[in-house]
Amino acid sequence: MIRAAPDASHLPVLLEEAMSFLCPRDSGQYCDATVGVGGHARAIIERSAPHGRVIGIDRDAEVLKLADQNLASYGDRVRLVHARFSQIRAVLEQASALPLDGCIADLGVSSVQLDQPERGFSFRRSGPLDMRMDRSQGETAADLLQRVDEEELARVLHDLGEERFARKIARAVTHARESGGLTSTGSLASLVARSVPGRESNRDPATRVFQALRIAVNDELGELDRFLQDAPGCLRPGGRLVVIAFHSLEDRMVKRRLRALAAGDAAAPAAPRFQILTKHVITASASEVACNPRARSAKLRAAERLPS
Ligand SMILES: C[S@@+](CC[C@H](N)C(=O)[O-])C[C@H]1O[C@@H](n2cnc3c(N)ncnc32)[C@H](O)[C@@H]1O
Repeated sequence: MIRAAPDASHLPVLLEEAMSFLCPRDSGQYCDATVGVGGHARAIIERSAPHGRVIGIDRDAEVLKLADQNLASYGDRVRLVHARFSQIRAVLEQASALPLDGCIADLGVSSVQLDQPERGFSFRRSGPLDMRMDRSQGETAADLLQRVDEEELARVLHDLGEERFARKIARAVTHARESGGLTSTGSLASLVARSVPGRESNRDPATRVFQALRIAVNDELGELDRFLQDAPGCLRPGGRLVVIAFHSLEDRMVKRRLRALAAGDAAAPAAPRFQILTKHVITASASEVACNPRARSAKLRAAERLPS
């Protein structure tokens, strides 16, 4: 059960910047592919009043309930769908919401998810090693740690967490699971702390490990890849795509895909063409980071579909 009052604790990242690229307008049709508790969606719906509409997608049914409460006053201008954003085309087709005037994806997990120890995303408060955004299906982080061999775990920690001590940690995890397993975030965090020499001044040593496991458990890169393939084709000419990434691998994927869309596909000349709107990546101002430390690593990129 999620208990937190969402609006007090959750500040949408790069809100003004995202809206300046999305340009919501009256009667427009928008998709928030990661609706979370509805911060960006609320801004879209308010700025596209009185007739603009938003379809909000989230794979986390518990978070979606909060979005439903937070956005209830906008009535049928908002529709919420429990789905993965890799399914964007099917979701929009089923809702008769194509084509879109704009689509935003604010990747990763929300503070609401991080703040719930029972969801297993946080190393600061102990809970079960779950980390699934959709708790109705799939493998938990504990299952993953039980299944993979040392080499594969080291690769996950290195590739997805950029963890320098991936091998050491993978070895320690393998030993720990032989003697009883790792089932809580607290036990994993202390095992990581014991396995790495010293600590970076401003980071808990478990940060990268938890990030890597979360990305693996939720197949976040696979999801993003499919989203970046399908979302552009859901926009009408003039429609805009805005993506906020928090991880260098994700940001690289967004940058490459937008460049490819801008360059056009020689093998598919009829494919939609885009213009990149963010020549340089957009990051949060010092004052935003001071109010919302999560904004520190946010990177926003945007593009507009050109007329065919
Ligand atoms: C950073 S939060 C979004 C916060 C939102 N912009 C707001 O203002 O409240 C990211 C959300 O995306 C959801 N999410 C992450 N990956 C997803 C995916 N592949 N499909 C659908 N939702 C996803 C998470 O469950 C989480 O609620």
